[in-house]
Order: sequence, then C-alpha cells, then structure tokens
Amino acid sequence: MISGAPASGKGTQCEMIAQKFGVVHISTGDILRAEVSAGTEIGNKAKEFMNSGRLVPDEIVTAMVTTRLSLKDVKEKGWLLDGYPRSSAQAESLEKRSIRPDIYVMLEVPDDVLIDRCVGRRLDPLTGKIYHVKNFPPENEEIKDRLVTRPDDTEEKVKSRLEIYKRNVESILSTYSGVMVKINGNRAKEVVFEEINSLLLRLQKDKEEKSKSGELVRNENQLDSLSLEKNKWRGIPTKLNNIPHSREIREYFYEDVLQATKRAIEDGKTRLKVEISIPELNPEMDVYRIGTLLELVRILALSFADDGKRVKVCVQGSMGEGALAGMPLQLAGTRKILEFMDWGDDGVMGTFVNIGSIGAKEVEEQDGIYILVAPQNAVGNCIIGDLKAMTDAAAHRPVILVNPKLRDVPGSSGIMQTMGREERLAYAASFEICYFFRLLYYYGTQYPIMGALRMSYPYEYQLYKRVDESPKKEKYELLSTFEKRPSGEEINDSFEGKVRDKAKESKGIWGFLSSIF
Ligand code: AP5
Repeated sequence: MISGAPASGKGTQCEMIAQKFGVVHISTGDILRAEVSAGTEIGNKAKEFMNSGRLVPDEIVTAMVTTRLSLKDVKEKGWLLDGYPRSSAQAESLEKRSIRPDIYVMLEVPDDVLIDRCVGRRLDPLTGKIYHVKNFPPENEEIKDRLVTRPDDTEEKVKSRLEIYKRNVESILSTYSGVMVKINGNRAKEVVFEEINSLLLRLQKDKEEKSKSGELVRNENQLDSLSLEKNKWRGIPTKLNNIPHSREIREYFYEDVLQATKRAIEDGKTRLKVEISIPELNPEMDVYRIGTLLELVRILALSFADDGKRVKVCVQGSMGEGALAGMPLQLAGTRKILEFMDWGDDGVMGTFVNIGSIGAKEVEEQDGIYILVAPQNAVGNCIIGDLKAMTDAAAHRPVILVNPKLRDVPGSSGIMQTMGREERLAYAASFEICYFFRLLYYYGTQYPIMGALRMSYPYEYQLYKRVDESPKKEKYELLSTFEKRPSGEEINDSFEGKVRDKAKESKGIWGFLSSIF
C-alpha cells in the first residue's frame, strides 16, 4: 500500500514500482477519473465529490476496490493499492476480508511543496502519464499540446484536499503501524524510488527465505496460530504484563529480533546489539527468565546455522582472580544451561553451533559469526577489555551482543582497566542497535504499561501508546516515529500531542526517561 498527501508522488512512484515488480497498480483516483470521463453511473455520482476535493462515499469506492482486487490478474501478480484505504471504514472493510499489505509506504512531503506540485501537474489523457510543468515537462510539443489539468488541482482545492487528508490519515495508521515505513518524498523521484525499491527487494527476499527455511521447522498448526495472533496484534503483542509470557508472545519477539538481525547482517553490519526488555527479560523486574534469553539466542544461532554460517555462542566466564572471582548474578549457570539445551538431533551442536566464552582466544579460523549472551560489567570487573580483544580478533566477522550491559559500574580498589573510561564508553557505543524494544511506564512504577518503543533494523523507532479498549482488551496505537532513538522529552511531547520544541526543558511524566536513554 502506498499513501501520502495529495501530490506526494504516489502515482509517480506506483508507475515505477509496477514496472519493476509487475504488480497490479490499483489507484482509486485513476479508476474514479476513468468512470467520470466515461460518464458511468458511478462516475456521475463521484464527479461532484472529486471536483470539490472531498472524499467519494466509502461504499462506492470500497465496492470498486474489492471488485478490482478479485480479478484474475491481481491474484496472479499481486497488488499495489494507491489512495485506498483513506478512512477507517475503508481500512476496516479490507481487514474484514483479511486483505492486508506486506508493507505500507507513507510518502512525506511539506505542504508548500505539495501545493506547487499540484498546481503544476499535467496529465496525458492518452497514456495516463503524469507530468509537471517545471519538474517533469513533456518530452515533445505533440504531448504538450494534449496535456490536461485535473479540475481538483487549483490551489484552493488542493488546500482543502490536504486538510481532508490530514483529518483522515491518523484514523488508519494504527491498522498498519506494524508494516508502515515513512519515506521522505521531497527528493528527486529516482531517489525516492531507490529507497522504496530496496525495501521491496528486502521484503521479497525475506518472504522467499521464510517460505524456504524457518517455517518448515514449526508444525503447521503452530504456525497458523502464531500468524493469527500476529495479525491480530498488528504491531506489537498485547498482555505483556502477564508473566510468564505466552508462547506466542515469545515467538513473536524471537521472530522480530531474528528478522532485524538478519537484515542488518545482510547490509554488511558487523558490530550489532539487540536490546529487548520485555518484562521477562528486564533485569529491573523481580522475575528474570534466563530461559527466554537463551531461547532467543538459540533461535538466532540455529537460524544462522541453517544459512550455513558457523555460529559461536559466547557467555562470559568467571571474572577476577582467586577468592575475588565472580560472575554477574544474571549469568550464573548460563553456560551450563546452554550446553544442556536441546540443539536438535542433526548434529548442529559442535559443528555449526559452538559454545565459548568471551575473549580473543575464543576466536577461531572457522567461526563465521558470534552471538554474545548479555555481556556485562560487574562491580570491580570490566568485560570490555576481553570484548575488545575478541572483536579485534574477529575482524570483519559479525558480533551480535544480546542485551549487553556495558555501562560503567562502580569500581573497587585494585582494579586495572585495560582502557580509559572514555575509550571504554566509546567502544561500547560502537555497536549499532539492530533491534530495540522497551516498555514505557510512569516514573518509578512498573505498572501500568503506558506504551512501548520499538525499532527493527533498518526501520525507524516507533513509539506506541497502550490503550484500554474494554476491561480485558487493550491495543497499541502508533503515536510517532523517530529516525534516532527519542529522548524522554521527545516521548513526553508525543504522548502529550505536542509539536516538539527543542528549547523546552524536560518535564512531565516521561521526563525520567531521559536518564534511561
Ligand atoms: P487521487 O488521484 O488519489 O488524488 P490524491 O491522493 O490527492 O493524490 P494525487 O493523485 O493528487 O497525487 P499523487 O500523490 O499521486 O502525486 P503524483 O504522482 O501525481 O484521488 C483524487 C480524488 O478521488 C480524491 O480527492 C477523492 O475525491 C477521490 N478518491 C480517491 N480515492 C478515494 C478513496 N479511497 N475514498 C474516497 N475518495 C477517493 O505527483 C504530483 C505532481 O508532483 C506531479 O506533477 C508529479 O510529476 C510531481 N512529482 C511527483 N514526484 C515528484 C518528486 N519526487 N519531485 C518533484 N515532483 C514530483
């Protein structure tokens, strides 16, 4: 699905997407304009609405779209919906029919640019091609002579269409938040297409891989119930306050982390970190399920092994010397559990998957990828020296830190650090986040959940608000997205519906988050 304000470039991009990927482009605007010029009953009804820039009634458009979607070519080639759905009722009617996009692209363009684009737009009635008097003038005089202007492209009508668009767009975003990607449409059309193209190629690859590999492991009933739950969640799972989490919730996160990590590695990233603090994995809560963490690590490792990579899963060993030797509590016994876990009967353990600790001597010629389980500094002991030596030895091979805790902790006397503080912090920060998930609470509480922040590489950070629909039903609504991890202040502003004021002091219920982030 592609959406965006009038003249954000939907039609222009769709032309290129349909040409490259061979999908059927269904533009409600184009279909309606064709009905109007053919003088059909639908056209006559729609004309008045369109010419004044208003939306055509839902029932007319929805009937048109569902008929078009049922045709043979769409079933064979797939579809690209442009300009539909435009209201919550339209989104709802697609949901009812389980018609859902793989991706929802939203083009963002500033208002003044949109107005200029509309006023300068010209259409070729013969080929349907879109031109612009300045940006994309026609190729020759013959075409120029036959170009027409859309009746709804006057400045006044564009302003009113823009207002209607803004009023409606919010109501459908929560339906597609899980698959939504915002794209800056205020760049050359080729540059915009390049970004969409790489997203679609990646999506295509993910789908092919899924159908080839991972899904075979699960039995079909499991898969069905999982995808049903996933579709219902449309973004992130609900009921995250219930511990232990249901299996579907855990599987949702395992899959989410796996896809993000794979995408980052495919893009050539080699220093990565996953930060996921669902209640079962949040060390600040009173329950910390090491099994969930190790299950996540096992899924990552087996999936990379399935791709033919040799994976080394590493847990830091005891740190310090003699009577002062110790381990962070969170990791006690972890290595043993890892060794006892079920790694399948096909001899993966010991060949494609190996278990090790953290340090340069763990790095062996045959290793392809390293997964480090929650490496952390402890009082009096700093893991970063060993970690740095290990990554230096690993060179170009990917190293993934899962839930690391590399902030400085208070030292105790007699500790020798291999690097200075600044250098250690810079090293810890050199790992790029490929997956992030954190629940948001009021200051000082861990109940109720107010929202969540999620990022899955290469997409933006998504800020969700938790909404109670009825006593036992909740959902997460997408509030805003951010290119970089938002500060507590930014989160606060989004929750309060404010436009961000950079000079503003950090105040309010979320102010505390600045210290966490
Ligand atoms: P529709 O045709 O869908 O209009 P729209 O959403 O207002 O979008 P536009 O077609 O104006 O713009 P676009 O984003 O496709 O931009 P384009 O590529 O042409 O709908 C028309 C009407 O039909 C609605 O108002 C409504 O009445 C009715 N309707 C449709 N769907 C409906 C629904 N679901 N429910 C109810 N009613 C519905 O580009 C614009 C211009 O900018 C062009 O000149 C182009 O050359 C230029 N341009 C494009 N990209 C760039 C770029 N990157 N840089 C510079 N210029 C560019």
